[in-house]
Amino acid sequence: MKTTQKTASDIPMAGKRSVMSSAIAAAAGLTDTPFEPPVMGEAAIEVNGLNLWYGDHHALKDVSVNLPKNQITALIGPSGCGKSTFLKTLNRMNDLVPDVKITGSVRFDGMDIYDPSVDVTDLRKRIGMVFQKANPFPMSIYDNIAYGPRIHGIRNKAKLDEIVERSLRGAAIWDEVKDRLKTSALGMSGGQQQRLCIARALAVEPDIILMDESTSALDPISTGKIEELCLELKKNYTVIMVTHNMQQAVRISDWCAFFLLGELVEFGTSEQIFSMPKDKRTEDYVTGRFG
Ligand SMILES: Nc1ncnc2c1ncn2[C@@H]1O[C@H](COP(=O)(O)OP(=O)(O)OP(=O)(O)O)[C@@H](O)[C@H]1O
Ligand SMILES: [Mg+2]
Repeated sequence: MKTTQKTASDIPMAGKRSVMSSAIAAAAGLTDTPFEPPVMGEAAIEVNGLNLWYGDHHALKDVSVNLPKNQITALIGPSGCGKSTFLKTLNRMNDLVPDVKITGSVRFDGMDIYDPSVDVTDLRKRIGMVFQKANPFPMSIYDNIAYGPRIHGIRNKAKLDEIVERSLRGAAIWDEVKDRLKTSALGMSGGQQQRLCIARALAVEPDIILMDESTSALDPISTGKIEELCLELKKNYTVIMVTHNMQQAVRISDWCAFFLLGELVEFGTSEQIFSMPKDKRTEDYVTGRFG
């Protein structure tokens, strides 16, 4: 966990002038301190030559990238560019879609997750997902969290109590719900429901949390809480999030991947992507010229 949180004002954000001036200054050798990206460290997931087709539609084109462990990576790009498709390939959620063909490899913890020997239920326990719209089960707050651990064989009440409390605390919602654990999760606010869904993902002790526009339906205060939570979560988890919110990517992501028409155009630190993109298409996108 880093001690200083980035704010939009720390990074020259998506302004044509700042992008151009830093790029031009660097190209002209005018900066005293050349831009040096931080070292990546260990990869949580290694993607190599990944292609995906929905029928005849080639939705991911030869994507290769290492996603860093215990960091937040943001996936950005215009609608339909393949962000959700890519995210879902990381825990085989696309297996559920008919007529999908996937080639290439996705390596996690020493295995290719597409190897026929992989237990997909176990994989999704270790690589959890939180969706755009909160989807609590129609049951109590307690049972929502205990659901996954019960499926994985935990029956002991004291153990389940402990998991429920730890998960709700981990998702920064314990104090708000501790006195109504037996009431329906459907009575919570949208922001609370989304944190409940994060707690539900945490309950099965994943290594990686995938988030697909998980704050896009929330008000700024709830969004802020989830952003703070993500910064806290990366002490123990790897977070990979799709976002359409460039400010959010700047605020909380360490790394950023820009997709266009199924291609991973550029991957780098968020500082680099937003202040000195290497590819013209990335620059056009982050400066708001299209998308
Ligand atoms: N189940 C599906 N069957 C067929 N085509 C699909 C399916 N899901 C996505 N696609 C197509 O694949 C492409 C990538 O879609 P994807 O949902 O990954 O985009 P995205 O970047 O997440 O977009 P958005 O920002 O709108 O969520 C699009 O052309 C989309 O129409
Ligand atoms: Mg999407």
